[in-house]
Amino acid sequence: MIQDEAKSLRAGRSFYAGLLEALIRVMGSANAYLYDHGRKVGFMAHQIGRAMGLSDLELARLAFASVLADLGMVGLAEDAWETPVRELPAEDRALVEEHPLRSQDRVAEIPHLESLAPLVRHHHEWWNGNGYPEGLAGEDIPLESRIIRVADTVVALGQDRPHRPACSPEEIAEIVSSGVGLEFAPQAGRAYLHLHREGGLRAFDATSFREIICEAADHLLPPEVTTPSNDQLLSLLASVIEAKDPYTAGHSRRVAILAVAVAGTLGLSDSEKSDLWAGGYLHDLGKVSVPLRVLSKAGVLSAEEFALVKDHPGVGADILESIPALRGLSPGVRYHHEWWNGSGYPGEVRGEEIPPHAQILAVCDGYDAMTSQRAYRDSRTHAEALEEIAVSSGVQFSPRVAAAFLALPDHLFEAVRAQRPEVFDPDAVPCPTSWGIYGGSLYSL
Ligand SMILES: [Fe+2]
Ligand SMILES: [Fe+2]
Ligand SMILES: [Fe+2]
Repeated sequence: MIQDEAKSLRAGRSFYAGLLEALIRVMGSANAYLYDHGRKVGFMAHQIGRAMGLSDLELARLAFASVLADLGMVGLAEDAWETPVRELPAEDRALVEEHPLRSQDRVAEIPHLESLAPLVRHHHEWWNGNGYPEGLAGEDIPLESRIIRVADTVVALGQDRPHRPACSPEEIAEIVSSGVGLEFAPQAGRAYLHLHREGGLRAFDATSFREIICEAADHLLPPEVTTPSNDQLLSLLASVIEAKDPYTAGHSRRVAILAVAVAGTLGLSDSEKSDLWAGGYLHDLGKVSVPLRVLSKAGVLSAEEFALVKDHPGVGADILESIPALRGLSPGVRYHHEWWNGSGYPGEVRGEEIPPHAQILAVCDGYDAMTSQRAYRDSRTHAEALEEIAVSSGVQFSPRVAAAFLALPDHLFEAVRAQRPEVFDPDAVPCPTSWGIYGGSLYSL
């Protein structure tokens, strides 16, 4: 079973598409404001774009740009979205106005979608020049960005906010109509209003949206996606997850490296290593739905806050399970906080019932958490962490995996702890087995 999943995982393009979908889902679960926002904006923008007669290529660019437009919002002024006031405080407002630039930087790192970065950058520009970040006006604003501006407004107005209830379709049409030529490009605004009046607007549905994205992918992606591209996308996903928690920079990557090294010591197959590599990067996917105030809290968590933290393995695993190309990674993610003696969370399995990849991720995750500084405590030394793993063998950790972990060579730990994603040189990490941790053929074997 795992073998089969690993096979599909290594098939470059489906793995890439799966990661992209995970990115979109992760973004959509980051906070109440973003909940499904991107997908809904993408669906609405597609309808407006079609009504305007955009070409297939333009529609494809529009679909991805719409869905990624708020990528930079993850981890940004999040608690502000829970504030029941109409106007955000100036400080939060300034932060929020940075999001198109942050989105642009992230989209520029997505292999094959780099050219969409300017569309994302300008999705808050107004037709009359009063928008941000640059105050572009009229046709200087990219066509797709003008359509996103309308779709974004329509979707946002249709959702409940802490300071107001959702607007009715008539109220939304009224607001768009009064903003044509000001905030909204006339052609895009009128296309929306025409659809509204003719009853031609379709309500969001996830299946149709997936079809739109698949078609868009056919226009924008090459027939094969290479391993370095997939690794780059994995790394971007990890950085989006980590944007929620400043203490975890590089955590996912270090867990991935350690997990593959342990797999080498245990003699696991290349396909299992490839699953662990991706699983390490994605194990904390669900953390994106834990509020920032909980993740960055310096004191002891309340029972309610801890309950939110405890949800993260399940949230992440559910997302992975809903994406066919990533389904095989879900057991490792769902159970990476279980304890060997059954006292971990979610508390569903113990001992050898814990899926093997979860057993491995648990030890690597534990080691990296112990040796990293966290909001609530200072880090422990490498020697203290190893001691802790030895003591916790058979209690928190699988004895077999703990032993394999303790057998890893010192220089591997030094390299892993020293590296940071931005200065990372794969060749600098010595490999404990003959299998290259960074083998360029990880997904193309
Ligand atoms: Fe936005
Ligand atoms: Fe975790
Ligand atoms: Fe973790």
